[in-house]
Amino acid sequence: MRSTLRVSILLLLGLLSIANGLNAFGCGIREDKFLIAAQEIVDKGLKESGYESRDKTTGRLVPDFEKFRDGIKGTADKIHAMGLKIGIYSDAGDETCAGYPREWGVDYLKYDNCGVPDIWADEYQYWPEFWYGTWENQTGGIEAPPGYDWSQSNTAKRYNFMRDALHDQSNTIFYSLCNWGHSHVERWGNDTGQSWRMWDDVVPQWAGQIQWSWVFMPILNYGIIFLEYSNFFGHNDLDMLEVGNGNLTSEETRTHIGLWAALKSPLFIGTPIDEISDEDLGVFRNWELLAFNQDNVWGAPAFPTSVNPDRTWNQTHPAKYYSGGSKHRIHVFVINTLDKTATKTVDFDEVPGLNPKEYILQERVQIQAQDPDTAALLFVEKDGKHPCSDPKKLPKPKIYSRKPKRWLSSRLLGKPNVLSLA
Ligand SMILES: *[C@@H]1O[C@H](CO)[C@@H](O)[C@H](O)[C@H]1NC(C)=O
Ligand SMILES: *[C@@H]1O[C@H](CO)[C@@H](O)[C@H](O)[C@H]1NC(C)=O
Ligand SMILES: *[C@@H]1O[C@H](CO)[C@@H](O)[C@H](O)[C@H]1NC(C)=O
Ligand SMILES: *[C@@H]1O[C@H](CO)[C@@H](O)[C@H](O)[C@H]1NC(C)=O
Repeated sequence: MRSTLRVSILLLLGLLSIANGLNAFGCGIREDKFLIAAQEIVDKGLKESGYESRDKTTGRLVPDFEKFRDGIKGTADKIHAMGLKIGIYSDAGDETCAGYPREWGVDYLKYDNCGVPDIWADEYQYWPEFWYGTWENQTGGIEAPPGYDWSQSNTAKRYNFMRDALHDQSNTIFYSLCNWGHSHVERWGNDTGQSWRMWDDVVPQWAGQIQWSWVFMPILNYGIIFLEYSNFFGHNDLDMLEVGNGNLTSEETRTHIGLWAALKSPLFIGTPIDEISDEDLGVFRNWELLAFNQDNVWGAPAFPTSVNPDRTWNQTHPAKYYSGGSKHRIHVFVINTLDKTATKTVDFDEVPGLNPKEYILQERVQIQAQDPDTAALLFVEKDGKHPCSDPKKLPKPKIYSRKPKRWLSSRLLGKPNVLSLA
């Protein structure tokens, strides 16, 4: 039997760009900035939308009492009193700060990877940001032998020290690994923390690279190779949102948040909250994107469904169609990465859960993306019912049962993953 589907277009997005990167405060951080930001999160309805913590603070081990009158703990208490959470930033170059986060009452620890002493260098190198052209062309360092277990790397050991220090504490701390995807962190990150950065730092720009920082398309291109590693309690982190920084267009802004949400990256606002434009605020609060990203029933990210389905390496034109389920129905995300207008058609046959034998579309939608542009669609049955009520029944795109041309093995933790060419 065929039921009728209703479709709602969430966003139409576009892009182009340039901008300066790096997030808002740097070393100028003080308690009042936290409290102002926290108040703004409440006032602007972001708390209501589910945003909780403000990340990126000081790397100091000893609170600077001039900047934090009652120490970090005092600031944390005030933030908690507002119903929010607070995060801090530290580094795995040494271990001296293990244990402090708990005393300070923080909820989130972002643990960076600068200044690693030589004796802690890894035996083998896997640094995704050194990839050029095709994905197997990585420069520098000694390549690991096939089957090498990256959870035995010094990088994993360094991050596990902090995990162990946090482990026995009474309060829950979200442990955010920030080692830029090195040492195949996605393979062991879920045994160590709750999220792991996949790539070098993001800057607010669509294409290209600026020194050590990278932009949206290469990050997306890399992120989609490792989607199987993201699910409940452990997430590939594509880095914080750059919305509000630089001069992103509205279309770039919506693309950035939309795709980060679709791939279930943690969503962090990385700009002064009191300066966010109403338009950007609207995207930060887009309930359908947040509903997909924060869904408590369906843990998996959206997967590419066609066009570059085998996830071949393309730093300027990654996969174009993505789909996934949430308890709010089936979501499809479509990007136009070209510099010219394109008409995109969503083929039900390629969207798991939207079997064309079962469903017809009630309203015809034509997505006309001008320049690089993205559309987010939500498919529901006419009476509002979910096309696929049981998450387990939503199959992966059938593409993934085929052997891809080029493939980074997607077996999960525990087993060594080998790079292989078919
Ligand atoms: C965007 O901002 C940067 C500085 O942040 C500036 O150099 C560039 O010209 C701007 N680009 C456009 C298109 O306005
Ligand atoms: C790898 O990429 C670098 C940087 O773009 C380039 O110089 C080099 O020729 C490439 N090597 C191969 C084997 O493609
Ligand atoms: C990550 O670990 C959690 C348990 O901590 C588990 O529930 C989840 O399935 C794991 N994720 C993946 C992708 O294996
Ligand atoms: C990336 O995709 C674009 C658009 O489909 C194509 O023109 C280009 O050749 C691809 N690049 C590589 C390296 O495959």
